[in-house]
Amino acid sequence: MMKKGVALALVVLVGGGLSAFVYAISTNKIVIGYNKSYAPDQPIPYPHDLHAGQYQIDCKYCHSQVEVSRHAGVPSLNVCMNCHMGVKVRPEAQPWIDKMRDAYNSGQSIAWKKVHLLPDHVKFNHAPHVKAGKQCQECHGPIQEMKTVYQYSSLSMGWCVNCHKDKANNAPLNCSTCHY
Ligand code: HEC
Ligand code: HEC
Ligand code: HEC
Ligand code: HEC
Ligand code: HEC
Repeated sequence: MMKKGVALALVVLVGGGLSAFVYAISTNKIVIGYNKSYAPDQPIPYPHDLHAGQYQIDCKYCHSQVEVSRHAGVPSLNVCMNCHMGVKVRPEAQPWIDKMRDAYNSGQSIAWKKVHLLPDHVKFNHAPHVKAGKQCQECHGPIQEMKTVYQYSSLSMGWCVNCHKDKANNAPLNCSTCHY
């Protein structure tokens, strides 16, 4: 019975329902919740506001793959240790620096929790966006003011498509641009 139910649902979807459904998600009439505002606790409470805001360290110093690759990447500990071998932090923060140093000295990494995650059927690539002059903040919000990073945009299909539709962007809209 279950299987028949699923098959029937598929038939209904494919026969007409699909285009209505696709219309609905591409215009944000349905937003399938993709964790907007999600801000997981990290193994070390790494503050973007301090590093990228107050000390104005360039995003690309740490997210060095963002211009050339699909993924912006998260820095490995040696990037952090370039500074944290030396800089003095407030005493309350010292245990986090000790944790970093111990991990670094024993060749381990920090298991950062992913904040943004698109479903597997979607292809997204940072490189063309950054090359087209899109700023990180257009999609990620004011990261340089965030103590803890949170997901700023919905990452819904409607969100992608709305920006691609803007004539000034000249970005493709066919399904295979974004789907496998
Ligand atoms: C056009 C929108 C857009 C722009 C511009 C953008 N990002 Fe992203 N970013 C995303 C999306 C969407 C994801 C989720 C990707 C996924 O799950 O595959 C993401 C994920 C990330 C991640 C998580 C790791 C990864 O690559 O999946 C980091 C770090 C990141 N972005 C940093 C940056 C930085 C730094 C910039 C600016 C140099 C930037 N992004 C510009 C949309 C954008
Ligand atoms: C370019 C130098 C530089 C790099 C690279 C750097 N930091 Fe820092 N970090 C600093 C400075 C400077 C301070 C703060 C000193 C102060 O208290 O004003 C700091 C402070 C901190 C603190 C304490 C924050 C608090 O609440 O007081 C943590 C945790 C931290 N950094 C983690 C990291 C991690 C993790 C990385 C790598 C992803 C990293 N840092 C990379 C310079 C750097
Ligand atoms: C000193 C290194 C450093 C700098 C500079 C830095 N970041 Fe990050 N970023 C990290 C680390 C470490 C993480 C993973 C921990 C976390 O999510 O807070 C991260 C996480 C992120 C994420 C979330 C990734 C995910 O899991 O989806 C985004 C988006 C991001 N950074 C964007 C930026 C932007 C935009 C800038 C510049 C305004 C910037 N970062 C500057 C080290 C850095
Ligand atoms: C802020 C506006 C904006 C948002 C949001 C955005 N894009 Fe784009 N996208 C662009 C621009 C601009 C280009 C580059 C067009 C060009 O110059 O080739 C582009 C290009 C692309 C390309 C490369 C197309 C090609 O083959 O040249 C893909 C794939 C893509 N976007 C997927 C996505 C996905 C998936 C999302 C949502 C998760 C998204 N985009 C969100 C503006 C945006
Ligand atoms: C600019 C990028 C982009 C384009 C173009 C695009 N999509 Fe999407 N699509 C997405 C993203 C991102 C998601 C995941 C978020 C969501 O479900 O809203 C998605 C989700 C979907 C889903 C929902 C799957 C589920 O998880 O239930 C369907 C179905 C879909 N797209 C079909 C299409 C079809 C058909 C087209 C062409 C008419 C198309 N998409 C064009 C980005 C795009």
